[in-house]
Amino acid sequence: MYSSMRPGDPKLVENLFNDVAPKYDRLNDLLSLGLHRVWKKQLLDWLRPVAGEDWIDLCCGTGDLSLALARRVRPEGTVLGLDSAIQPLSFAMARAAKEPMHSISWLRKDALDTGLPSCQFDGAVMAYGLRNLSDPLAGLAEMRRLLKPGARAGILDFNHLSNSSLRGGFQKFYLRKLVVPIAAQFGLRHQYAYLEESLKNFPDGLTQETLAKEAGFEEASHRTLAAGQMGVLLLLA
Ligand SMILES: C[S@@+](CC[C@H](N)C(=O)[O-])C[C@H]1O[C@@H](n2cnc3c(N)ncnc32)[C@H](O)[C@@H]1O
Repeated sequence: MYSSMRPGDPKLVENLFNDVAPKYDRLNDLLSLGLHRVWKKQLLDWLRPVAGEDWIDLCCGTGDLSLALARRVRPEGTVLGLDSAIQPLSFAMARAAKEPMHSISWLRKDALDTGLPSCQFDGAVMAYGLRNLSDPLAGLAEMRRLLKPGARAGILDFNHLSNSSLRGGFQKFYLRKLVVPIAAQFGLRHQYAYLEESLKNFPDGLTQETLAKEAGFEEASHRTLAAGQMGVLLLLA
């Protein structure tokens, strides 16, 4: 059922990530050959979170990026990891409990409607979350609302490539011939087949820049990583 599912169905997205959570970190390492760690580090290097700042990690999943942020903003800074699914959050909490010196908290909420006060964060990140939102523009607007004027934000995700390009062809090959068969070994074939589906209507870099401006960001620039396979949208509130 997941392979034909559209990102616009929040309940199915939540169920999918609850199913995937116990194997998510292992599969992430395997499918990216560990490179997702490098891309997340690059994202933080570009955003430069510093000690004492307050950051939010939207769609935090199992919390590896939240913890990486917490290590940079410590000792006085804080991180809030937010996700709509309970299972990834429970893995995030267990992960954070191993590093109790960090000021990090977790919230189960929809990134489109966090219920948090406006203008409270110095920075925000979202890794592999935007693609799953039913309304990416609303997600960007909610992120913008949470940020103080001048705050930085960054969004990491797959890069939407045209199927006719060489890079787009490689992406399709990677998703169909590597990701899905490997995930199938973990009993998650349909959940990972959804990845290609979620990319179909995902805005490309230029469109993301336009949407971010529409959402109220002052500056937006999209860069690519991994020979164009991944994209990072860097934002200034
Ligand atoms: C692919 S995982 C990414 C997790 C983590 N950021 C990472 O990079 O490993 C996407 C996460 O987004 C969460 N998510 C999807 N839609 C959401 C929404 N509307 N609000 C909050 N979280 C959402 C899912 O539950 C899932 O944990």
